[in-house]
Amino acid sequence: MKLFVYHTPELTPTDVLPECAIVVDVLRATTTMAKVLASGGEAVQVFSDLDLLKQTSESWAAEKRLRAGERGGAKVPGFDLGNSPLDCIPEKVEGRRLFISTTNGTRALQRVQKAKVLITAAFVNRSTVVQYLMDKQPETVWIVGSGWEGSFSLEDTACAGAIAHSLVQSTGLSADELAGNDEVISAIALYAQWQDNLLGLLHHATHGKRLLGLDGHQDLDYCSQTDILDILPMQQEPGILKSHH
Ligand code: MLT
Repeated sequence: MKLFVYHTPELTPTDVLPECAIVVDVLRATTTMAKVLASGGEAVQVFSDLDLLKQTSESWAAEKRLRAGERGGAKVPGFDLGNSPLDCIPEKVEGRRLFISTTNGTRALQRVQKAKVLITAAFVNRSTVVQYLMDKQPETVWIVGSGWEGSFSLEDTACAGAIAHSLVQSTGLSADELAGNDEVISAIALYAQWQDNLLGLLHHATHGKRLLGLDGHQDLDYCSQTDILDILPMQQEPGILKSHH
């Protein structure tokens, strides 16, 4: 297995694709996706365009759908939900499809939509992602941070490091043997520095601060938890993710 970390979707090569792509948006899209599917949601369908989201979801029975829209960290007016994982409790999401559009997470997913396998990761489902990689042993793996509008996000690279760190322990390979690029080494170093205080790291992050300004303390608490959800969101067809068993 060769692992590559990209801090943002824009940094991924455009002429090749990996056997397995892992999209990370700790705050908050991929945490929310894991939570929706863990709470019994039927699927998550992602859109970059809010109008297309509304149009597509119209063809679903109202009791079978939920529309989630986030821009700049805030809920889009008229949508059922914003992008808080805490809203995705079984009572609300069970049996429903979440139609979702977020600022950066959906863009990252679209960038690697054609990879043979596309999964999503956050701290909350890190161990399930690592277990999948250990079972399947894909030859090339990209971890793609969603960043914020094209720039680096501390929390996404730290999560990439959490995955890489655990892979080093599980495979017995050295970081050098596993790493396909230098970003893997730096992601592991970032995670190693913060692994006992991920909430502190989220408080340093620009988007963490943005969410705190929007009363997002509880979201940060939730997103900082590691290995609490045994769920693997996997793309089934372009833009549609379901829980992989
Ligand atoms: C995004 O996709 O940009 C994020 O998930 C933003 C958010 O915190 O809702």
